[in-house]
Amino acid sequence: MSAATPPGYYRHHIFFCLNERDGGQACCAQHGAQQAFEHCKARVKALGLAGPGQVRVNKAGCLDRCAGGPVAVVYPEGVWYTYVDASDIDEIVTSHLRDGVVVERLRLPPDVGR
Ligand code: FES
Repeated sequence: MSAATPPGYYRHHIFFCLNERDGGQACCAQHGAQQAFEHCKARVKALGLAGPGQVRVNKAGCLDRCAGGPVAVVYPEGVWYTYVDASDIDEIVTSHLRDGVVVERLRLPPDVGR
């Protein structure tokens, strides 16, 4: 760990729910979660933000907030997002993951559950 590496190893860690359910039940996979995950990973890499001390983009299974899907969560802040398209992901990457400013308009309402 270098002097610049934060205690949590990554400055920001974002998890995308990629869960897919059988039988047409609501799930993030129905709403472009895989494409959003791949887009986020590519943008983070292209902007030079990936790696220790910086940003990590990970897949997750169901995060149990499916009613707001597709969802992603950023730690260490524990900020939950819902998104529609690639431009929403771009905003999360540049505003939150690069500049540390939460994208208020994409926040998942606190009462959204399964
Ligand atoms: S399927 Fe994505 S939060 Fe449950």
